[in-house]
Amino acid sequence: MAGSSSTSTNFDLNSTEIKSLATAAIAAKTHAYCPYSNFRVGASFLTNDGKLVSGANVEVASTPVGICAERCALAPLVAQYERPHMPRIRACAVSTDIWPPASCCGMCRQMMREFCELDMKVYMYGRQESQNYKGLSAERELEVCGEPAVMTMGEMLPMSFGPNDLKH
Ligand code: THU
Repeated sequence: MAGSSSTSTNFDLNSTEIKSLATAAIAAKTHAYCPYSNFRVGASFLTNDGKLVSGANVEVASTPVGICAERCALAPLVAQYERPHMPRIRACAVSTDIWPPASCCGMCRQMMREFCELDMKVYMYGRQESQNYKGLSAERELEVCGEPAVMTMGEMLPMSFGPNDLKH
């Protein structure tokens, strides 16, 4: 695990922390560059040392070259730290415009699995269709968008292959 030396991670966020994490993912969605799919995604991660980072999907004309919001947020987070001082990641949020909420793609799950522990929760926010979201702030969208789907990393990627499997 690429985590820091601290012994335990509190994966249970309080309501204020969940709100900040979710708002960051919803706000990041407005920065999506997705002219080819028109499918906006925002993602955010909260670390043990209180850092909140976010990213959005960025597409390019050569389709496979684009990057998902989760990996857009995660790679710069990892790159901020000298090895081996990466803090543990407490939670992740993802925001899309569909209902039920979309979940992370397989490639993102594998990358998240590298840096997130199996008990870490992923909060997936969507948009219930009954609402009009035009002009709403991220804070207001969170209030009206509906409940997130919540799964742990281990549930999202069962029987996964990870960093420890190479330590033999
Ligand atoms: N996308 C993400 O950003 N995250 C995911 O986990 C699923 C898919 C993006 C990639 C592409 O820009 C768009 O959504 C449609 O697939």
